[in-house]
Amino acid sequence: MVYNLLKGKKGLIFGALNKQSIAWQVALKSYEEGAEIILTNAPFALRLGDTKILAEKINAEIISCDVTNLDDIENLIKKTLEIFGGKFDFLLHSIGMSPNVRKGIPYDHTNYSNFLKTLDVSALSFHKIMQTCRNYDAINNWGSIVALSYIAAQRTLDRYNDMADAKAILESIARSFGYIYGKEKNIRINTISQSPTRTKAGSGVDGLESLIDFTEKMSPLGNATAEECANYCITLFSDLTKKVTMQNLFHDGGFSSMGMSEKAIRQYEKSFEENS
Ligand SMILES: NC(=O)c1ccc[n+]([C@@H]2O[C@H](COP(=O)([O-])OP(=O)(O)OC[C@H]3O[C@@H](n4cnc5c(N)ncnc54)[C@H](O)[C@@H]3O)[C@@H](O)[C@H]2O)c1
Repeated sequence: MVYNLLKGKKGLIFGALNKQSIAWQVALKSYEEGAEIILTNAPFALRLGDTKILAEKINAEIISCDVTNLDDIENLIKKTLEIFGGKFDFLLHSIGMSPNVRKGIPYDHTNYSNFLKTLDVSALSFHKIMQTCRNYDAINNWGSIVALSYIAAQRTLDRYNDMADAKAILESIARSFGYIYGKEKNIRINTISQSPTRTKAGSGVDGLESLIDFTEKMSPLGNATAEECANYCITLFSDLTKKVTMQNLFHDGGFSSMGMSEKAIRQYEKSFEENS
């Protein structure tokens, strides 16, 4: 079902690597809902990923940008303004990477230069992008900015490692910048805290399959898929959510409010029976 919720709007979308990517689904839905899109990703991702396939499908230009590099971000925003012929209306930050997670280095043996890289790519990049957008006055009044987060920002989850700290900073940046951009330009900034999802970044986390099974059993509505996450993003980009800002919004089938579910108790009891 298409509602034309983004008719006439223009959006910049970071992080569509392949069709599993949450950003891929967001770009597709945004296009279906009438938006004009520009896609961006890191040079390595544009070489190895499928972003070009998506760009053809949705008639989008691609601009390369490593989000740790301020010159790249500045170039990205300038080119985006050129291609759109003016300001744009929404932006999706869908970026995460931890060298410690990738290399299997545990949190209590962390490598600090890796840790800094995690924070830079996954959290500070959000600040860098928004500060550059503001410097260039790139986003229309009443625009909307969304970044993707995870519940590890509030609750400790085994093996999520330094990404938990990155997500806590990311959510804090959304509030701090949301205040500034809100009072100046009525631009809203929110994070969506998404269920565990099978993607390239997700699969980097050791034990993802068990986590997906656990949260599926714990959540009354079940895990949220990437496509469902995209639907939620569309509402936040649309004019229907103009006064929602500085929030971390859980999109997790109810997991974040649960303590224990019937399905999880049954699974736990089964393991007792098997071990007795
Ligand atoms: N998959 C999950 O379980 C899950 C759950 C909650 C939140 N998230 C968040 O969703 C977002 C998107 O991740 P995904 O799961 O779709 O995985 P993904 O691997 O498809 O997307 C991550 C993206 O980050 C990009 N990226 C990495 N380093 C970059 C850099 N230096 N410059 C520019 N881009 C860079 C990658 O190229 C990739 O496109 C991330 O913030 C992730 O933490 C994922």
